Order: sequence, then structure tokens, then C-alpha cells
Amino acid sequence: MRILVTGGAGFIGSNFVHHVLKERPEARVCVLDKLTYAGNRASLEGLDPERFDLVVGDICDEPLVDRLVAASDAVVHFAAESHNDNSLTDPSPFIRTNIVGTAVILEAVRRHGVRLHHVSTDEVYGDLELDDPTRFTTDTPYRPSSPYSASKASSDHLVRAWVRSFGVEATISNCSNNYGPFQHVEKFIPRQITNLLDGEIAKLYGTGENVRDWIHTEDHSSAVLAILERGQSGRTYLIGADGEKSNREVLQLILELMGREPDSFEHVADRPGHDLRYAIDPSLLREELGWRPRYTDFREGLAATIRWYEENEAWWRPMKDATEAKYREVGQ
Ligand code: NAD
Ligand code: TYD
Repeated sequence: MRILVTGGAGFIGSNFVHHVLKERPEARVCVLDKLTYAGNRASLEGLDPERFDLVVGDICDEPLVDRLVAASDAVVHFAAESHNDNSLTDPSPFIRTNIVGTAVILEAVRRHGVRLHHVSTDEVYGDLELDDPTRFTTDTPYRPSSPYSASKASSDHLVRAWVRSFGVEATISNCSNNYGPFQHVEKFIPRQITNLLDGEIAKLYGTGENVRDWIHTEDHSSAVLAILERGQSGRTYLIGADGEKSNREVLQLILELMGREPDSFEHVADRPGHDLRYAIDPSLLREELGWRPRYTDFREGLAATIRWYEENEAWWRPMKDATEAKYREVGQ
């Protein structure tokens, strides 16, 4: 099995590449990644060169994508601009990479009859009230709030249209918020951990009552692999691990695990249009494919993630100052 992984030098993509090469000894992986500010070669260090290679390039580059897709048995498409806050400052790369880039991938898999798995987010469904007893299912209407989630919603619609109109063999997954190693320090959990390691204060947007449904990135990887191997073409699978927590709860657990006082954080400007709550109903994935998350103890997973950032300062240090400078500009 030759798998083309787009965005494989990013957070979730690199974790997936490590996972596949470990779990499937016969698999070969080619990563196509533009190495934007979010991509990092260092996340792919130590992989067997006989089974892995990295092509630095853009998913919007049609001839390049065509050549790489033609040489693959399957494509797993992670490449995206992924950060909501950045999409509020400048939406244009989100439109280009997430929408146009996905269309380029779709045309290439159509030409070559190659199986596609498209990786998406639960944010396409908008948000839920805190006291709403329901969770997102595949029947929930799309109602994206930010340029990021709207661009991901567009990409999902393109995939469904290519399946229906052209018979492309593709699956989609919409996953909740991931945490784990190799996550860029612009995101909530690594930002707080690295702020504390730097002796800086942790930063909570608004009241901190917003709820996210956390899943360890290893569980996301095992779910994507299950869908790639056993999922039904044309289907959408929601990936989640029953991990709902408010931002304040997560932050206070980080503070506790790092030996700080529970109130040693500051409230900063809220994100405009900030989604209140995300929550996934992952029944289809569990019932149809028998998938189960393994990292169900959030406290333990978070403690291991904190240790990873403590032990891997060389990985995150080069991106920390520029990230904080961007946040300072918008008062966060
Ligand atoms: P990330 O920002 O860490 O990584 C994105 C990768 O894509 C980077 O390596 C970047 O260099 C690459 N890339 C960006 N533009 C490119 C282009 N034009 N051509 C080639 N490569 C390009 O993102 P992530 O958090 O790993 O997210 C990966 C995917 O998972 C995204 O599609 C995202 O929407 C989805 N997702 C993320 C989460 C989450 O919690 N982070 C949850 C659900 C779904
Ligand atoms: P983030 O990691 O950006 O993921 P997403 O926007 O995809 O959910 O943010 C997770 C939550 O944490 C979100 O509600 C915004 C909040 N947040 C903070 O409170 N402080 C921060 O410094 C950051 C980066 C995010």
C-alpha cells in the first residue's frame, strides 16, 4: 500500500505517518507538504527512508499532485490552514489551500481512480449551547462560523459532489479537538504549557466557559486508518472520544499538573464569533467499524503531553516568539 499523506509535516498528519508506519509494516508513505509556518521536518525525523519520503510542495500545484497521486494507492488529505485565529486575521490562504487545494486533489484522484480519505473537523457544524443535550451527528446541518470552518465545510461539500457526480471513491471524517505531541504552540494546550515553561502567564479567551471535545491524536490516527481500510466509500464518520471539557477546566488541570495555583492565568480578549461548544456523537464509527479510543484518561494524556513539551524544547522553541508576537498584536 503506497499512501500519499498531504500535510504530513503538520501536527495530526505527522502523528498519523508515525502511526501507519508502526502499525502497517508493509505500508509506504509519501508526504506532500508545503512546510508553511505550521509544517516541520523535525516532526518526521527518524523514519525509515526505505518506506518514507517527504516531497516539499503545494497541494495547489496540479502537475505535482497529479504525478504523486498517480504513483499512490490511496491519499489521506490532512493539508490545510488549520488555525481559527489566523483565519480571522487573513482568510485568503484558507480559501486557497483548504478549498482550491482540495479541488486539485479531487481532480487528481478522479483522473487516476485512487481512493481518497478527506480529513475534516467537527467545526463545520457550528456550535451547540452549553445545556443542549444533543451532540453533532452526520445529520447535523452545516453551520460553520469562522473563515476556517467555512473553508473546511466547502472542502467537505466538494468531496461529496465528486463522489456523487464522478464516482470518486472517498470517505470523510470530522474529528473533534486533538491534543498530543507535535502540536503547534499557537493552539490552546501547547500555548499554555509553553507559556508556563517560559515563566509567562497562561491566557484564557473570554470567560473560558467554551467547551471543546478533546481526543488524543493517536486515537484520531487509529480512527483514520480504520476508515481508510474498512470505511464505506461516500460515507462520513464522526471521530470523537467523549472528551468534553471547558477551556477553564483544561487550563486548571494544566496549572495543577505543572504545580501552579489554579487562578494563575489571565483573561484576554475573546475570539470574535467564538464557538461556544463542540460535542461529537461517534456511534457510527464505533458500531460500523468497531473503533474504540485508547487514550480515555484525559489527565494522563495531558500529563504525557506536558512531559513531551518539557523534553522537546528544541522542537517548539523556534516557533514560540513569532507566535506570541502575533497574539500580542490582537491583544491575546
Ligand atoms: P497543522 O496546521 O498542524 O498542519 C497542517 C499541515 O499542512 C502543515 O504541515 C502545513 O505545512 C501543511 N500545508 C498547509 N498548506 C499547504 C499547502 N498549500 N500544500 C501542502 N501542504 C500544506 O494542522 P493539524 O492540526 O495537523 O490539522 C490537520 C488536518 O486535520 C486539517 O485538515 C484540519 O482541518 C483537521 N483537523 C484538525 C483538528 C485539530 O484539533 N487540530 C481537529 C479536526 C480536524
Ligand atoms: P484552539 O486550540 O485554537 O482550537 P479551536 O479553535 O479549533 O477549538 O482553541 C481551543 C479553545 O481554546 C478555543 O475555545 C479558544 C481557546 N483558547 C484560549 O482560551 N486561549 C488561547 O490562548 C488559545 C490559543 C485558545
